[in-house]
Amino acid sequence: MRDIACLSRLTRRQCLALIGAGCLPWPVASHAAGTASLKALAAQAGLTFGTSAAHEIFDDEADRALIFNQAAILVPDRCLKFDWLRPDAATFAFAEADAMLALAKAHGLALRGHTLIWNDWPPDWLKRAPAAQLPYLLDQHIETVMGHYAGALQSWDVVNEPFVAWGNEPGAFRQGPWYTAMGQDYIFRAFRRAAQADPKTKLVLNEAWTERSDIFGLAVRKSLLRLVDEIKDKGLRLDAIGLQAHLDPAVAYDDASFVDFLHALEARGVAIYITELDVKDASFSGSFPQRDQQAADRVYAFLKHTLSVKAVSMVVCWGLSDRYTWLRDPGVLTALKATRLPRSLPYDDDNQPKPMRDAIARAFLERAV
Ligand code: XIL
Repeated sequence: MRDIACLSRLTRRQCLALIGAGCLPWPVASHAAGTASLKALAAQAGLTFGTSAAHEIFDDEADRALIFNQAAILVPDRCLKFDWLRPDAATFAFAEADAMLALAKAHGLALRGHTLIWNDWPPDWLKRAPAAQLPYLLDQHIETVMGHYAGALQSWDVVNEPFVAWGNEPGAFRQGPWYTAMGQDYIFRAFRRAAQADPKTKLVLNEAWTERSDIFGLAVRKSLLRLVDEIKDKGLRLDAIGLQAHLDPAVAYDDASFVDFLHALEARGVAIYITELDVKDASFSGSFPQRDQQAADRVYAFLKHTLSVKAVSMVVCWGLSDRYTWLRDPGVLTALKATRLPRSLPYDDDNQPKPMRDAIARAFLERAV
């Protein structure tokens, strides 16, 4: 307590300097971190902090307040996705995304668009469309949706998850209607159209898996670097790479080799966003506090390494409170063979901060120095 009292007489800059020099033990520093919002701590570290949100932002007042207090940027979890926006070929269902943009604006949050073109989750009508129509449908979708939000969104995931990390050929292109019709040209076409449709927003290529150091993660890293080179070689605008970071502690991690990969991206002149941070905690055993601590330790180690790279300018969690993690969706629970409800996010079911919240705050504080 004496330390905390002393701390309150120091300026924030002095606090940060002491933390950076290792002179202030974390329990004391965490007092400073605990009272500041994650968005404020992030801003001091040259980062934008945010979260995704789905219907809860409209329906749950407490969750909405948490988001507005902690996040500087919001990412719609579903309502800007192709299958949601386009129930049939003639419809563009903008109402929910428009409402989310209005809410974000009214509370001073930026909005990030996720996602325009993805081979996963195509609606049935798109699967049935003749391949020859797909180039037109891609152009029409990008021009109409980006046109609708032109100038209003901070960034857009133009293409999501171009590669797969499973099967006999990890790092191969993900199959789906866009790839079947155009091969990898669908990606170049999408970036060309996107740059024309909204010259102001940042254009992002978003991918999963790369933080893993098993053969799957390594294969996707290699494919992604090659694709970035190809996009750049064609003279197309590519502003940032989004790396999802659904951390799965059951697989191999070598954070140092991940940092090498981030430097390789940085050398290609793109910004790096961490776009969907959470932890798949199914492999952890023990009580809630033990599981929460293990998840926090993984997030801290990941961020500590990741934030050492200057090009990293954004960290977005895929939700803030465990109550709304996508890892509790029935389909995902089955796929994960989960026997318990995942606790994947920085706040618990009652919006109380967990050790993961501390871990994020600490990594931000330490970068700020
Ligand atoms: C998930 C959403 O959170 C769920 O609500 C939805 O049902 C399925 O998609 N990678 C992505 C995100 O790029 O769009 C996914 O979001 C999670 C994995």
